[in-house]
Amino acid sequence: MPEPRTLEAIRIDHPAPPHVPKDRLVDLSWAMGSIPNDLVDPYEPFGWLSGPEIPPLLYNPMPPGGLGAAIGSDPRGTWIVPHYDDINRVYSDNDFFSNKGTAEFQALIGETFPSIPLAIDPPDHHKYRAFLMPWFAPSRLNKMDAQIRGLVNEMLDVFADKGEVDIAWDFGRVYPVRIFMGLMGFPPAMFEQFLEWEWNILHSGSLESMQAALRGVLGFLRGFIAEKEKQPDENLTSYIVHGQIEGRPLTADEKIGTVWFLWLGGLDTVAATISQMFRRMALQPEIQRRLRGHPELINTAVEEFLRTQPILSSARRAKKDFEWHGVPIKAGDSFQCLNPAGNFDPAHFANPREFDPARKPNRHFTFVAGIHLCLGAPLARRELRILLEEWFRRIPEFRVKPGADTTVYPGLLSIRNLPLVWDAG
Ligand code: HEM
Repeated sequence: MPEPRTLEAIRIDHPAPPHVPKDRLVDLSWAMGSIPNDLVDPYEPFGWLSGPEIPPLLYNPMPPGGLGAAIGSDPRGTWIVPHYDDINRVYSDNDFFSNKGTAEFQALIGETFPSIPLAIDPPDHHKYRAFLMPWFAPSRLNKMDAQIRGLVNEMLDVFADKGEVDIAWDFGRVYPVRIFMGLMGFPPAMFEQFLEWEWNILHSGSLESMQAALRGVLGFLRGFIAEKEKQPDENLTSYIVHGQIEGRPLTADEKIGTVWFLWLGGLDTVAATISQMFRRMALQPEIQRRLRGHPELINTAVEEFLRTQPILSSARRAKKDFEWHGVPIKAGDSFQCLNPAGNFDPAHFANPREFDPARKPNRHFTFVAGIHLCLGAPLARRELRILLEEWFRRIPEFRVKPGADTTVYPGLLSIRNLPLVWDAG
């Protein structure tokens, strides 16, 4: 982690594309969630990047490591967008910025189908989004409330009286994944296998393991789609398999592209947020006390947890040559919007470092913005809200188990284990 946190401290001299001004070159590889810390607010090191002294566009000329390299990110480097209004433009201005190729891990094994709807630009994006939207509408999600609350309580029953749980492994990892698998109609027996494939795709850092996992999951999903073709049911996969877009059935590529991206985006994003949320409350018990005393704040607190723990920073590509903030941009240039910086931009959030459970409005980028705003956000919010409601009803003040390691990678799947304890009974 660079100290002190100033622009000068992160400037570098490094080969970069000729149109990139030298004074924008910085090494921001440390700000991509790859360096762990054990701060109460693990995102604190990124906050200053949205400060008024930071230029609107920086350029990280380091070739992407690990995951980025594997999925074909621009080997020349990427523009970094740290300020709120500019991040908002990248997400919202579809004439200039494209999602083509985003999260298309499948290319690693030679697959050519797109990730739907994430990697689709307008005008086609709208038809896929409209097709899936009813499944995430409030009227449908309302019907899931009892199931979600029931599952939380069933899981709390197991450990409430024990005074101890590994919130990351035994709870966070399981609860949202079970709901998601139920929504899609996936067989519960696939639970551990799914998580292992996902871990290998996102975190193994080994091309071989990623490819093996991709072959495994895509083989399974194609088999599952074939099964649903013969035996329809009431779940989302079956809806996709038998659905119609603009009056025609989906092609084989559209079916696998949609089911695959839901699998990738929906499987355990909520799990990562839960672990970070409980870590923050355990290390800062005044947040627990405030919410316990004021359950009416739980809705806005969920939003504040999301703002302060953004598990992803999103990428886009420039569609054409243009000038932005006096800097020439070339078609194909890669952009990385630094969501943790945007979410702490002092021009948009009063006391941005402070955790304010009553903060309103709270338009953060944890689910991005614009047309690709997370489709599962209403479900994720509901799962987090119901969890907090039931948790505070049943579990007294909790803390990290003495001696436990609170190190966190401030990103997706960031905490594997986090034992919490409380005074049971
Ligand atoms: C706290 C939990 C979650 C977080 C932080 C999250 C985050 C995100 C982000 C940042 C994007 C946009 C990526 C980009 O544009 O580059 C996204 C898109 C998406 N997410 Fe989520 N997600 C969460 C939960 C879910 C769940 C539970 C589902 C499904 C059940 C889901 C399904 C999707 C889909 C389908 C998209 C693509 C939307 C589009 O392109 O129109 N997400 N999510």
